[in-house]
Amino acid sequence: METDHARLRRIHLLALLLAALSLLIVLISAYIRLNGAGLGCSPWPECYGQILAGGPHPHAGGVRVLHRVVASLALFLGFGLLWQCLRPQPLPGPKGSATALLVLMLLLTVVGVFSADPHRVWAGVINMLGGAVLVLLSWRTVLAARIDRPPAGVQSGAALVHAGLGFLVFALVLGALIGARYAAPACPTLPGCAEAAWPAVDGLAALNPIATVNAPAMLGDAGGAALHLLHRYCALATVLLLGLGAIHGLARAGARAVAASVLLLLLLQFALGVLTVLGGFALWLAVAHSAGAAMLLAAGVHLMLRLRATV
Ligand code: HEM
Repeated sequence: METDHARLRRIHLLALLLAALSLLIVLISAYIRLNGAGLGCSPWPECYGQILAGGPHPHAGGVRVLHRVVASLALFLGFGLLWQCLRPQPLPGPKGSATALLVLMLLLTVVGVFSADPHRVWAGVINMLGGAVLVLLSWRTVLAARIDRPPAGVQSGAALVHAGLGFLVFALVLGALIGARYAAPACPTLPGCAEAAWPAVDGLAALNPIATVNAPAMLGDAGGAALHLLHRYCALATVLLLGLGAIHGLARAGARAVAASVLLLLLLQFALGVLTVLGGFALWLAVAHSAGAAMLLAAGVHLMLRLRATV
């Protein structure tokens, strides 16, 4: 009869593979989405968002096939992972996150049908956030299947990390709204949007995800500018709070490596956001910014769990 130890080892390996595949899915779908929106196209910004007016989707045939192959493989592994967690008897540790992972994959498969229409804001937002949560849940399963678990107990810095993660979620949602509302060109300046340093009240309607868009939000659009400004403020709050929490974590022997990764990813993600604007919304910078967000979310939650010493 096989021991739980051997099963956990197999689950750990499967979850690691799924984490890598999930990150690949985030990268490929960000490329398809942002290339489709026309990020970095020429002549900029007139060519941006032409897909909304029925213009052709920039050629992405091979990439689309690759996306389908990787996503199908991930779904297959997701079923295998859950099977390993449940049979012959359920393993309490990784079972919860493996179940959530499979449910999310099935949900994203359904949403994928709707996101073929570029006008639906909600479908774009769910796709982007779903990708990041996919990476998070696979990483959570990797951690839950580890054999060497430290004892529980709350450590200092956990409250800062919690607060930082709250702002990180807001930054993710706002970033996803910028993408799904085709609002990149609404604010090509730093640190504010032209003269504005604070979102206009009439721009806050752009926070509504249950909407359809028929044209991109170009320079001067109040909704687009509001999204950019709020995104930047939330990013700043994330860097401060999560960064301080991670600095606390550096002092804890068991949390040092993950705290250092969080600090590195925070700086990288912030720099990529700034460079995306300064670089005239170059496609590859924005794709890296999208993948960076998913990795930061997974690393931030890992740090929170580490400071609470539950993984
Ligand atoms: C904690 C830091 C940050 C996080 C987690 C974050 C996250 C995100 C996410 C998830 C997106 C959507 C990407 C996509 O469409 O695929 C996004 C878009 C964007 N972010 Fe950030 N961001 C951060 C910081 C910043 C900063 C500091 C700036 C600039 C000052 C910035 C500028 C942008 C821009 C211009 C876009 C739109 C690109 C597009 O068309 O999608 N971000 N961000």
